[in-house]
Amino acid sequence: MKEKQLPSRVILREVCPRDGFQSVQKPIPMGDKCALIDGMAATGITTMEVTSFVSPKAVPQMADAPDVLDYFNSRWKGRIHSVVLVPNVKGAELALAHNPDALAFVLSVSESHNKANTRRTVEESLKEFETVASLVGNVALGLDVATAFQCPFEGAIAPEAVVRVVERALEIGANAITLADTIGTCDPLNLTKTLEIVRREFGDYPFYLHLHDTHGMAIVNSAAAMELGFTRFETAAGGLGGCPFAPGAAGNVATEDMVNFFNKIGVETGIDLEKVLGVADSMKAMGLPVNSHLAASRVPCTKA
Ligand code: COA
Ligand code: ZN
Repeated sequence: MKEKQLPSRVILREVCPRDGFQSVQKPIPMGDKCALIDGMAATGITTMEVTSFVSPKAVPQMADAPDVLDYFNSRWKGRIHSVVLVPNVKGAELALAHNPDALAFVLSVSESHNKANTRRTVEESLKEFETVASLVGNVALGLDVATAFQCPFEGAIAPEAVVRVVERALEIGANAITLADTIGTCDPLNLTKTLEIVRREFGDYPFYLHLHDTHGMAIVNSAAAMELGFTRFETAAGGLGGCPFAPGAAGNVATEDMVNFFNKIGVETGIDLEKVLGVADSMKAMGLPVNSHLAASRVPCTKA
């Protein structure tokens, strides 16, 4: 990594309130969720995935989505860009009634994970995405591309399959695309193999990357992606996260570890690391399974 080739700034989207909380089995009280949303919102972040409008039978933890989004809007609307995940038209309709800034429609590139997660074929999900696009009006519409690199059931994903899904989403009118290493098994070589093809096909389109840390490579993967010009990442306070329908998936890369990484190499995030560590401490006090390098060590963080 060469200092003069680094970007001056990256954007980190906080996804703990959705991807983090959905991975926790025991119900998290509404007050705790709101406290963590407020804590993270005050760290300097500019965008947050606040919740998901999914079947409460599929993910009971997200059953309070309308209340959580209403709370978020009452405090942070207009200051922090809110995103909510939806898997189908019903979720989009329910979400739109609560005024999010953006929907993130989720589908997986691999048929078997898409079936496990949404009970649809990839083509059925794309058709449904088209219907959602006709409903959103002024609300932004993103596509979360799950299993973009590796699938828990099918293994390596062909980059061409990712390109096809992204092309369709852009034709349909997606305003944003996130590419996810849903199970966190990528390494810099297989990640960048796909990302190089994505760059070739879509130029400097501002993709978000969503990298789980199952094998401990999310930061090195982020660094490799940054060398290809990717500067937007989804991260979760405390390193929480994981899709309940992706066996083996561990947590997301922790926001505090990513902020520390970017601080050290002199890349601006706009996020106050001490405040994120304060949130991680409150998460521990609430009994949440915090799992990050910094929250465990607390060796003072200085720029090299
Ligand atoms: N929000 C709330 N309830 C929903 C819903 C949504 N987005 N989608 C469906 N439901 C309800 C239906 O009303 C129905 O309720 P009922 O049994 O009380 O009548 C029930 O869920 C099943 O509906 P059905 O039409 O069979 O669901 P579906 O096949 O259209 O969709 C999904 C199933 C996609 C909603 C479900 O698999 C799901 O929520 N998956 C998301 C999984 C997830 O969050 N993964 C992690 C994030 S990537
Ligand atoms: Zn995830």
